[in-house]
Amino acid sequence: MSSQANIDSILKENRMFEPSAAFSSTAHIKSLEEYQRIFKEAEENPDAFWSQIASELHWFRKWDQVLEWELPWAKWFVGGQLNISYNCLDRHLSTWRRNKAALIWEGEPGEVRTYTYQQLHSEVCKFANVLKSLGVQKGDRVAIYMGMTPELPVAMLACARIGATHSIIFGGFSATALIDRINDAQAVAVITQDGAYRRGNEVKLKPAVDEALAACPSVKTVVVYKRTDAEMKMKWGRDHWWHELMENASDDCPAEPLDSEHPLYILYTSGSTGKPKGLLHTTGGYAVSTYLTAKWVFDLKDEDVYWCTADIGWVTGHSYIVYGPLQNGATALMYEGAPNHPAPDRFWQIIERHKVNIFYTAPTAIRAFMKWGEQYPRKYAMKSLRLLGSVGEPINPEAWMWYREMIGRGRCPIVDTWWQTETGAIMITPLPGAIATKPGSATKPFPGIIADVVTKQGDSVPAGSGGYLVIKRPWPSMARTIYGDPDRYVQQYWSEIPGVYFAGDGARKDADGYFWIMGRVDDVINVSGHRLSTMEVESALVAHPMVAEAAVVARPDDIKGQGIVAFVTLESGNASADELKDELKKWVVKEIGALARPDEIRFTDALPKTRSGKIMRRLLREIATSGEAKGDMTTLEDFSVLAALREDEE
Ligand code: WT7
Repeated sequence: MSSQANIDSILKENRMFEPSAAFSSTAHIKSLEEYQRIFKEAEENPDAFWSQIASELHWFRKWDQVLEWELPWAKWFVGGQLNISYNCLDRHLSTWRRNKAALIWEGEPGEVRTYTYQQLHSEVCKFANVLKSLGVQKGDRVAIYMGMTPELPVAMLACARIGATHSIIFGGFSATALIDRINDAQAVAVITQDGAYRRGNEVKLKPAVDEALAACPSVKTVVVYKRTDAEMKMKWGRDHWWHELMENASDDCPAEPLDSEHPLYILYTSGSTGKPKGLLHTTGGYAVSTYLTAKWVFDLKDEDVYWCTADIGWVTGHSYIVYGPLQNGATALMYEGAPNHPAPDRFWQIIERHKVNIFYTAPTAIRAFMKWGEQYPRKYAMKSLRLLGSVGEPINPEAWMWYREMIGRGRCPIVDTWWQTETGAIMITPLPGAIATKPGSATKPFPGIIADVVTKQGDSVPAGSGGYLVIKRPWPSMARTIYGDPDRYVQQYWSEIPGVYFAGDGARKDADGYFWIMGRVDDVINVSGHRLSTMEVESALVAHPMVAEAAVVARPDDIKGQGIVAFVTLESGNASADELKDELKKWVVKEIGALARPDEIRFTDALPKTRSGKIMRRLLREIATSGEAKGDMTTLEDFSVLAALREDEE
């Protein structure tokens, strides 16, 4: 039965896929028993577990204490000194990996650049010296506003090398977003580029910086990387060209030994209301968690070409393009542009061209590929692929199966990884050689992570019931605070449910202990006293052969409390007929029951999304309720989508 404290779960999914014997035999973690043994060891003696992993990295000074914990304030590897850029680069230079590809970069126009560990090290050292020559010091904040060029990881690693804290601002944000973030962090310098290529066009970046800096007095210096060669105004005394500064810079710049808790970066995420939150990550714990999760979740091997399609402006790019893979000495592929430029087969072409082995992307991208059609992936054999990953949103079983069959050709395990900007590293995930997967489930917590599904009072809910997803113990890569606002950190993450970290997501644990993430609790719908997850109704809709994507929201209903409105985009070539609306309502009833029957179906060509691809249900809720979206829209990717939705209304 339902209660206000719980979330009813209605999704039924019984398929299960065991890892193949061939995959398991060479995997880092080879069996369920091995996972269970490690999990138990880490649970019983977390200090020994994390300390052993940390010992695989390079420390200038070993820690005195693994964890100092005063809820909710954590210090990891207390007294230790390290440098994450040393661990990403220098550590490999005394090994055969010195001449291994660290980064393979493909530009949108098609050029390819490859950096060996030695070459990347030289670039990073040179740019670190450039930063020093401009007066940037240990402890200073540096804003980075760039596209997906190799110079972006170079800039990050150079900051880390000298102990400057980077704050990367996604290249799609506007001047206003820049102002908020630069001022909040009091950045002293901005690193940017003239423009970036996106879908064949040039997106100008430097002009937005110029506009923003009129309102950002803390910034003294700007470095501009020349990518598109567009005409640029440079402000004398403030602006410098990257290539001019690099020309004479020395490549000798020893990595600074930094305290384990030294601030590595700030990354802003949008709160549902109010000003963006700057999550602060520090050095030692973040290095250890990203190193280990990258290795075990992606089963990284020296021979692999690993490709994460995220933008480095999001945490996924920080942890799983740059810091995680490079600490492992892996080869990471980085692509500059859009997935459908010049045609919707670009990703598959890249996989074929570079013989990518591990591919990590987002459900929103997978649903776009489904919508564009099978003919694009079908053109390529993609025999090199051995492992697929997903992150960012719940992946509906339909998309999961498509990903498995159409991209993985039924051969590759899928790791559906649940985590957040706040957690710094993957928290709930299959280990691909050990844990059997179920479509739509992120499966089990990573060793060392104690997760649970609880009521608002903090009591565990029985298997099969929905509730709040919480983490019960500190973990190394947890954000340490919201920059400049510790009270908000406490209130946001540590106050709602006593004694534990509350992530904001709803979830359910099944009888096998598998976690099913049900989306943000803010998005929950309450129909006649039953709390339903929007994600589950959406999953049912997307399972219909004509539906490409769906977003479900609540609107007030006199009788039921809330009613369900579904915004639906159709697969290419399907007409949005009224009969189809009825059919879809019946379909949902058949798939999950009468309770979830949508009161209204609205067809639309596109859904409003954040720039990182998450559906903005908040705006849809406003449209469904009042016909108009009025709330904060600074993170909305495409305003024309909202305009179209409003027109439909009339
Ligand atoms: C939120 C965090 C973590 C990198 C990208 C997003 C949702 C993320 C999953 C998943 C279901 C997921 C959650 C979470 N989310 N991964 N595998 N299954 N939901 O980082 O922008 O901080 O967003 O994304 O709602 O709380 P973020």
